[in-house]
Amino acid sequence: MSEPENVGPAQAPIGETATPTGEPLVVLERVNKYFGSLHVLQDIDLSVARGEVVVVIGPSGSGKSTLCRAINRLEPIDSGRITVDGAELPEEGKELARLRAEVGMVFQQFNLFAHKSILENVTLGPIKVNGVRTAEAKDQAMALLERVGVANQAEKYPAQLSGGQQQRVAIARALAMQPKVMLFDEPTSALDPEMITEVLDVMTSLAREGMTMIVVTHEMGFARRAANRVVFMDDGQIVEESTPEEFFTKPRSSRAQDFLSKLLTH
Ligand SMILES: Nc1ncnc2c1ncn2[C@@H]1O[C@H](COP(=O)(O)OP(=O)(O)OP(=O)(O)O)[C@@H](O)[C@H]1O
Ligand SMILES: [Mg+2]
Repeated sequence: MSEPENVGPAQAPIGETATPTGEPLVVLERVNKYFGSLHVLQDIDLSVARGEVVVVIGPSGSGKSTLCRAINRLEPIDSGRITVDGAELPEEGKELARLRAEVGMVFQQFNLFAHKSILENVTLGPIKVNGVRTAEAKDQAMALLERVGVANQAEKYPAQLSGGQQQRVAIARALAMQPKVMLFDEPTSALDPEMITEVLDVMTSLAREGMTMIVVTHEMGFARRAANRVVFMDDGQIVEESTPEEFFTKPRSSRAQDFLSKLLTH
């Protein structure tokens, strides 16, 4: 398999993650989104550098999923601008499918195709959207399944796998499209505790290899280990941004303090 093209430079790592280059890859400028009268994204400005790992954290309903979905154009925005590697995603059409493939997305519910084998789940996108030849797509898929530790499950169907295995397949499927950035929306929150680690380990190694990642999670261990930056959202706004260390030990805003105290006492 070819190396992902956004591998970070060989500099001193922050935690276990390669140092981002500083060049912006995903940029949100004054993004606003309403559901009826509910202002779910309020003037969001966020710039994620190539190779950077940003953890988004915040209370339920604060707009984290909507933010991810907006970046991927699964959710239209009402105003503002979102670019990935300098290009704004079009509203619809073939160009949208191609550009959307540059943004890999992993959801809480794994969303694998139930009637397709694990291997087919991973080869489908490259063949249909990227026009990769079947044999090549299979080779790449097997390499990715190997990388996430489920190559021996390739011929099975999703229902025959554990939740942790299915989520790792979902990661492999997203990677198969050779995305420039990976979005994870609470990828471990539907998993039993013993499966959380195996998924977080895959994500940590991706981060270490220089993948640009936006991760919605409450897993503080992962954030501390892999994130360059924590973004705290509340009520559709970015309330606070800092390093994981700063955020978890000395949150500045009262809203973040309140949120963390509840998280810690759970
Ligand atoms: N399709 C929709 N139609 C109407 N309202 C929506 C829709 N999707 C989300 N919302 C509302 O928008 C707000 C933000 O939702 P969102 O799912 O982005 O929050 P979240 O931070 O991801 O929450 P959680 O931690 O529970 O996943 C919530 O008040 C939610 O009820
Ligand atoms: Mg959500």
